[in-house]
Amino acid sequence: MIDIHTHILPGIDDGSKDINESLDILRALVNQGVTEVIATPHIITGVYNNTKKIIDEKIEQLKTEIIANKLPIKVYKGAELYYEPNIIEKTKQEELNLAGSNYILIESDLQRFPDNFEKTLYQFQVAGYIPILAHAERFTPFLNDFNRLINIANRGILIQLNSGSFFGNYGENVQKLAYRILQTGCVHFIASDVHHLNTRPVLMKQIYQYLSEHYTEDLAKLLLEGNPERVIHNEPVESMIEGYFEEKPKKTFIEKIRDFFRT
Ligand SMILES: [Fe+2]
Repeated sequence: MIDIHTHILPGIDDGSKDINESLDILRALVNQGVTEVIATPHIITGVYNNTKKIIDEKIEQLKTEIIANKLPIKVYKGAELYYEPNIIEKTKQEELNLAGSNYILIESDLQRFPDNFEKTLYQFQVAGYIPILAHAERFTPFLNDFNRLINIANRGILIQLNSGSFFGNYGENVQKLAYRILQTGCVHFIASDVHHLNTRPVLMKQIYQYLSEHYTEDLAKLLLEGNPERVIHNEPVESMIEGYFEEKPKKTFIEKIRDFFRT
């Protein structure tokens, strides 16, 4: 598997605090069957002022330790962008894409989208980037307005969900939303978003098994291997369904009664 969303670089955000913790997380990823990983430290002006220089240095440090510790895992440079008005310029300037590709990983305030959020996503596309919305299931506004998520996806914004959400790591609402998004087919990636092993376990193997058992192994492969690999190779991703995403209309009371008597 390939994990495209992780906070494994030591001491530069709220993820791994030092190189030993980074190596522990990498060992856990290896044990889960992850062979490649994109390090995506937070980029939040005034909170985590990470630059290309800082990220490059940390990546080099981690790569040296991976060789020294003989860990069978490959690390790529990336970033998790937080919405701010000049985020596109900053992305270009600091090369904050994923693994040198045109893909970027972006989030915003989880409780309330900034006014220009969707516009900024589309402007990223105009600038030649392919935005991936990080942990879409964690955004509160989608709870009451699911169509907003569908509209975003139908404009070509890709959707990433966290493995832990499916197992209730972020509460019941997030868990329900994760399954609802999956049911709609409106998802392109599942990643760990690992910060610390004790607070957010990796759970990549568990979600791979769940999808294989309850859907198909092809779907597990698509979301946890195929599409992440396409990001690394800068190739177009595939969707789990063809055409536009649509939420299944809810059955009316009469339809439910008819279904009941049919079975
Ligand atoms: Fe993250």
